[in-house]
Amino acid sequence: MRLDKLLSELGFGSRNQVKQLIKRKQVQVNGEIILSDGYNVDPQIQTLIVKGKQITYHSHRYYLLNKPAGVVSAVSDAENQTVIDLIAKEDQVEGLFPVGRLDRDTEGLLLITNNGQLAHQLLVPKKHVVKVYEASVNEEVTEEDVGTFASGIIFHGDIRCKPAELTLLEHRDGTSYVRLAISEGKFHQVKKMFLAVGKKVTYLKRIEMGPLKLDSELAVGSYRSLNAEELMRLAPYFK
Ligand code: URA
Repeated sequence: MRLDKLLSELGFGSRNQVKQLIKRKQVQVNGEIILSDGYNVDPQIQTLIVKGKQITYHSHRYYLLNKPAGVVSAVSDAENQTVIDLIAKEDQVEGLFPVGRLDRDTEGLLLITNNGQLAHQLLVPKKHVVKVYEASVNEEVTEEDVGTFASGIIFHGDIRCKPAELTLLEHRDGTSYVRLAISEGKFHQVKKMFLAVGKKVTYLKRIEMGPLKLDSELAVGSYRSLNAEELMRLAPYFK
């Protein structure tokens, strides 16, 4: 792999930033200072020293977790169980973190990885990665709401959301069951969008994020590695 690509994947910054590191003679491969960005390196068999520190290379991990309620989307937490605590010891590697955040009471799809660049590409607003949720709402959700969501919900007086696709699935015993697709990730966004039309989300589950979908075989609280097809579908987000 090219040295600049590898360093960038290892979290040493953008391609331009790592080129500067190389130029400043801060990168050694097998004890030799390397000055070429395109130098081919195999981190599994060569020793890499960056800024005087030896780098332990581990290939990236990608886990699709079906997050249960009651667990926080964080790497560590003094009081609560975290999504990283749900990863078995043998699957733990340094630097695992959740890509984005689901509220403590939200369930569903959460990508766990140690690839910071991929996470950035999936979360950066300009990529407009679509997230799809299923929600239960405590009052009847109407066609008028569908129109309001499509034209852009405004919450807190002046925060305008991008147009969102709201689909009514069912209304039963006072609860509406809906699907909502949004292409941004404001804090508590789905709950705040419904509050803006005077309704409360009583259950929330994410079922899709970009090209990733939650599959019905993945029980709540369990996870699995992404398969080759899912990794291929993520290809546009690998830089
Ligand atoms: N929107 C919310 O309100 N909560 C989540 O967990 C995710 C999206």
